[in-house]
Amino acid sequence: MPRASKASKIPKEIKKLDWKPGTLLNPVPAIMVSCGREGEKPNIITLAWAGTINSDPPMVSISIRKERHSHKIISETGAFVVNLVTQDLLWATDFCGVKSGKDVDKFAEMHLTAVPGDAVQAPYIHESPLNMECKVTQVIPLGTHDLFLAEVMATHVNADLIDAAGALHLNSAKLVCYNHGLYQEVGKVLGYYGYSVRKKKVIEREKKSRRKKDIHK
Ligand SMILES: Cc1cc2nc3c(=O)[nH]c(=O)nc-3n(C[C@H](O)[C@H](O)[C@H](O)COP(=O)(O)O)c2cc1C
Repeated sequence: MPRASKASKIPKEIKKLDWKPGTLLNPVPAIMVSCGREGEKPNIITLAWAGTINSDPPMVSISIRKERHSHKIISETGAFVVNLVTQDLLWATDFCGVKSGKDVDKFAEMHLTAVPGDAVQAPYIHESPLNMECKVTQVIPLGTHDLFLAEVMATHVNADLIDAAGALHLNSAKLVCYNHGLYQEVGKVLGYYGYSVRKKKVIEREKKSRRKKDIHK
């Protein structure tokens, strides 16, 4: 695990180039957002511009271009589900990000299972390990994209990601992130929240925990 003292070894002589303003914040999550209107086939849109924006109430945001088929559905129903993406779902994730629900039934094409949401009018993807049912609270037009702010109304988590004590082990889920056009695996643990100031006694205890045992070597 990198210690604080190593920070001083970061090279300072690297030359910086000035670039035009752009959305360079990376990596970002790659997520599958499912949605659906009554009497129609449900749809999936892949999104990278998504984020966590509030703890209580739990809230997320997604940013969607107005011309997307899913934009119309979500605007009408005020509902969507955020489905996290694993390596097994990556092919389908890319497909759902290049094909429109106007032309294809993405659930059927990708052999995915749509399960009706419990709390909102949108289905979730059974094959994704973590689903968040969201209710839209605000839509903010930004220019090319509309920003949908939404409250998380219900969640579904694969049972094998939760231990006997009820703790979530997302690191076992083989999640994928999106890094400037490339899909990359989320893997090796390098540190954790607050590790730079952890006391030795606590570190000894953490060496025995499932989540953190591999960090302190
Ligand atoms: C990795 C990836 C990330 C994407 N992120 C976004 C995004 O954040 N917002 C957006 O409007 N479109 C995004 N797209 C494009 C849509 O997923 C794509 O246009 C899709 O075909 C729209 O589907 P729909 O017409 O069924 O809604 C992304 C595509 C990919 C492959």
